[in-house]
Amino acid sequence: MKIGSVQLDNVTILAPLAGITNLPFRLIAKKEGCALVCSEMISANGLVRNSYKTKRLLDSLPEEKPLSVQIFGSDPSVMAEAATIVEASSADIIDINFGCSVRKVLKTGAGAALMKTPEKAEALIKSVRKSVNMPLTIKIRTGWDKSGEQAFKIAEIAEACGVDAISIHPRTASQGFSGLADWSIIAGIKNRVSIPVIGNGDIKAPEDALLMLDKTDCDAVMIGRAAIGNPWIFSRLNALIRHECMSHTELFSRFEVMIRYLKTSVKYFGEKNACYMMRSRLGWFVKGMRYSSGFRESIKHISSEYEALKIIKSYMNNLNVNEKSFTGIMEAML
Ligand SMILES: Cc1cc2nc3c(=O)[nH]c(=O)nc-3n(C[C@H](O)[C@H](O)[C@H](O)COP(=O)(O)O)c2cc1C
Repeated sequence: MKIGSVQLDNVTILAPLAGITNLPFRLIAKKEGCALVCSEMISANGLVRNSYKTKRLLDSLPEEKPLSVQIFGSDPSVMAEAATIVEASSADIIDINFGCSVRKVLKTGAGAALMKTPEKAEALIKSVRKSVNMPLTIKIRTGWDKSGEQAFKIAEIAEACGVDAISIHPRTASQGFSGLADWSIIAGIKNRVSIPVIGNGDIKAPEDALLMLDKTDCDAVMIGRAAIGNPWIFSRLNALIRHECMSHTELFSRFEVMIRYLKTSVKYFGEKNACYMMRSRLGWFVKGMRYSSGFRESIKHISSEYEALKIIKSYMNNLNVNEKSFTGIMEAML
């Protein structure tokens, strides 16, 4: 499928996840075959104010491309200016957040608040569309009531304003993440617009994604929470789509990914910050594994890459993982 001029290799997309889909995380998803990775939501105000911390969120590497960068805000002129900053970065697609239902964001009139006021949403989309030539997408929710009427309206406005694709997480704003995503809303949008529609919400396993594609006729699937600690969901889903056998994730692949994630995070964030992050994040990859609670406990206080690697290695030994399964990475490790 194509988003504007950007051709995707397959139909799998990593959802934007605040605090999670940073560059090291995206590289892992990409390596497992995800066709499009998305940044976390980035404040348009922060970009326009030239905040160092905000601007760093635009960092990218060629290996992860194509990259979609999501911005949020409520002021059309600020959003337009922020979009020009994104266009000048290495992003390939710009996405506008219409789905965030966190109170702090709603209070500013951004995120899902925009779904209440279609005229404001339209002004904002028009302003961003006018300011950049790059492919433009929006990510929406069902809206503020279950009917989906607000989502249908925003989708039609978006298409008329020249938006290139729409992602839909079909939960209402007040639902947050509770209850179930109503996939019939995805099908409803697909029936109303002719630009690509990306379905999102409650894909927990590759089979769920196939079901979503089948039930809603959406053009691609976006996966969020199920990719945390499980980037293999992308490779397994792609295998399923190609009617190939979905292999189980080998234990050594888990460790290989953990080590790569640790090392890229150290490189990118510096050892101190990366170790602080890894204290909880390495645990994502060992969910349900034998002795995982002991592993989680022992990484809680890591303060150096060396220490983290030693703990990973000792856990591998506990699980009898053969170090020789690794291609070079272990040699470089200790
Ligand atoms: C921790 C977390 C952070 C999120 N951050 C964003 C974000 O920055 N931008 C956005 O549009 N959606 C965000 N979302 C929503 C997800 O992109 C996605 O729509 C939602 O999780 C449903 O998909 P899933 O069931 O595959 O997780 C976030 C969700 C979670 C759980």
